[in-house]
Amino acid sequence: MQGIQIIGMGKALPARRVDNEAFTQMVETSDEWIKSRTGIQSRCFCEEEKQMDLCVEAAGKALADAGVSPAEIGLCVVATITPDYHTPSSACMVQERLGLPEDIPAFDINAACSGFVYGLEVVSCMLGSDALPRPYALLIGAEKLSRIMNFQDRSTCVLFGDGAAAAVIRPSDTHRFFCRLGSQGDAPALNAPGVGYPEPYIHMDGRKVFQFAVRAMENGIRLLEKETGVLANEIDQFICHQANERIIRHVQKKLKLPKERFYMNLDRYGNTSGASVPLAMAELMETGSLNPGTKVYCLGFGGGLTWGAAYLEF
Ligand code: UT7
Repeated sequence: MQGIQIIGMGKALPARRVDNEAFTQMVETSDEWIKSRTGIQSRCFCEEEKQMDLCVEAAGKALADAGVSPAEIGLCVVATITPDYHTPSSACMVQERLGLPEDIPAFDINAACSGFVYGLEVVSCMLGSDALPRPYALLIGAEKLSRIMNFQDRSTCVLFGDGAAAAVIRPSDTHRFFCRLGSQGDAPALNAPGVGYPEPYIHMDGRKVFQFAVRAMENGIRLLEKETGVLANEIDQFICHQANERIIRHVQKKLKLPKERFYMNLDRYGNTSGASVPLAMAELMETGSLNPGTKVYCLGFGGGLTWGAAYLEF
C-alpha cells in the first residue's frame, strides 16, 4: 500500500507570551498549581494576529522548507476548532492568501486535538486516490483558542494557548503510513458552544478527559503495534497531543518506554489543540530529530471525544 512522506514543516506562534503568574491576577490559582498539575509554564496568545495569519505563516514556512511552490499543491486541509470564519473554511482562505491553484480541494477538519492525526489519514487517502491534480498536500493545524477561553474559569483558562504548524506531504512507496481514528460522542466531557449560544467558551470535565486520554494513548499504541508489526520499543519518537505532562508521563512509564522518546513542548505553549501534534513534529524536525528512517507514532485525543493513532516513517 502506498504511504506518505512529510517533506517540510513550518510553525507560527503569536508574539505575546504569557506566564503562569499572569493568571493569578484573573483567577485564584498559582504558578505552582499550574506547573505541578499540568507541566505548563507559559503559552502564547494572539493580540492582533488572526488564526488565518498563523495558518499562512506556518504554511509559507512549510512550503519553503519542502522546496515546493504554491502552484504545486493539490490539496489543502486545515485542522482547527477556532477558524476565523464559519465560512469560507480556513483552508479556502489559505488557498486565497497563498495563491494555491484553483482546481484543488480545500476544506477544514473539526476533530479538536486529534485534528492533525485525522488530517494525516484524510490526506493519505486522497493522495493515494490518483484523483488530485498535483502530488503535494498542505496540512495545517492552527488554533486561536484564546478567542473561546473563559478567563474567569480557572479550571480551563490556564491550560490553553494559540499557535499553528503546517506540513507538506507527498505520496511515497517507500514510507509506510498506518492510521486508526475513533470517536465516542460526548459533548458534556469537552465542548465550546458556537457564537450566539450561552457561554460560548471551552468547558471541560478535566478528570473525565484525563482518563479518556490515558486510555486512548495506551490503546492507540497497542493498536499500532498490532497492525504495523513495529513495536513501541522500536519507535524513535512518540509525538503526543500536548495537554498535560502527567498524561504523557503516565503512559510512558506504564508501557516502560524511554522518557527521551516522548517530546514535550507544552511547558512553552500549553495545549494548542489541533496545532499541538504538528507543533511538536515541526520542532523535532527543526532540531534534526526526524531523519531518514526515523519511526514515529503520533497520538491525538480530545474534544468529541475523538482519538487518532498514526504510524509514520521519515
Ligand atoms: O486537549 C483536550 C484534552 N484535554 C485534556 O487532556 C485535559 C485532561 N485533564 C487534565 O489535564 C486535568 O484533569 C486538569 C489539568 C484539567 C486538572 O487537573 P486535576 O489534577 O484533574 O485537577 P482536578 O480537576 O481534580 O482539580 C483538583 C483541585 C480542585 O479543587 P478541590 O475540588 O480539590 O478543592 C479544583 O477546583 O484543583 C482545583 N483547581 C485549581 N486550583 C488552582 C482547578 N483548577 C485550578 C487552578 N488553580 N487553575
